[in-house]
Amino acid sequence: MKPLALNRKKQLSTMKKRQLITYSHPESLISEQFREIRTNMKFINDSKNKVFLITSPKDGEGKSTTIANLAVSMTQQKEKILIIDANLREPVIHSIFKIPNDVGLTNVLTGKASIEDAIYKTEISRLDVLTSGSTSFNPAELLETKRMKDLLKSIAESYDIVLIDAPAVLKSTETRVLANQSDGVVLIMNRGKTEIEKAIETKKVLELAHAKIVGAILNEG
Ligand SMILES: Nc1ncnc2c1ncn2[C@@H]1O[C@H](COP(=O)(O)OP(=O)(O)OP(=O)(O)O)[C@@H](O)[C@H]1O
Ligand SMILES: [Mg+2]
Repeated sequence: MKPLALNRKKQLSTMKKRQLITYSHPESLISEQFREIRTNMKFINDSKNKVFLITSPKDGEGKSTTIANLAVSMTQQKEKILIIDANLREPVIHSIFKIPNDVGLTNVLTGKASIEDAIYKTEISRLDVLTSGSTSFNPAELLETKRMKDLLKSIAESYDIVLIDAPAVLKSTETRVLANQSDGVVLIMNRGKTEIEKAIETKKVLELAHAKIVGAILNEG
């Protein structure tokens, strides 16, 4: 495994504590549940399956919050994790970890930045972040390129697990493409928010995209 040469390190002392419960309260019941999810994912993860897309049927069901906590939980199990914020429409990963978003995925995909320049090594050991980058006017077009596919392939070699945050499945076409390019998809469902019809429709859409749904998480928030 070839480590990436990283040239930036950002302080996370001001991270949003409420959103990152696995960091602020590692002994809590919720943190324990994230560890269980991680353990379950381990059964479907071998050295070949490491790129996971976390998505949900609709907006605001808890995708980004879940990814951030899952990632922290995974680092606590000594794994090297990369979060990619591929939600170019509503990126929030940089704000959860309080890191800048001037250079990120869009800049790499348009050839304006190198991957080494775009990845932030966070203060949490073994957790790196590739933020969304500067605004993209056509997220679908950008994420559906071969460049994105190649990027995922090469970046995966430097990490144990790569977690991709993406827009809701029923809201954007690029999520289907990302689902197809990932080794597994984890669906977030929100108790109280996610309608059963939308969950079924999402499953169908992902299956049509030949995505491998490896699990579902019921979020209560
Ligand atoms: N389990 C939870 N407990 C409390 N608050 C939560 C929980 N999950 C999510 N939230 C809150 O709900 C809001 C939406 O969550 P989040 O941004 O993670 O959703 P999302 O699915 O990523 O949204 P989008 O579709 O816009 O990307 C945030 O303010 C977040 O803090
Ligand atoms: Mg989100």
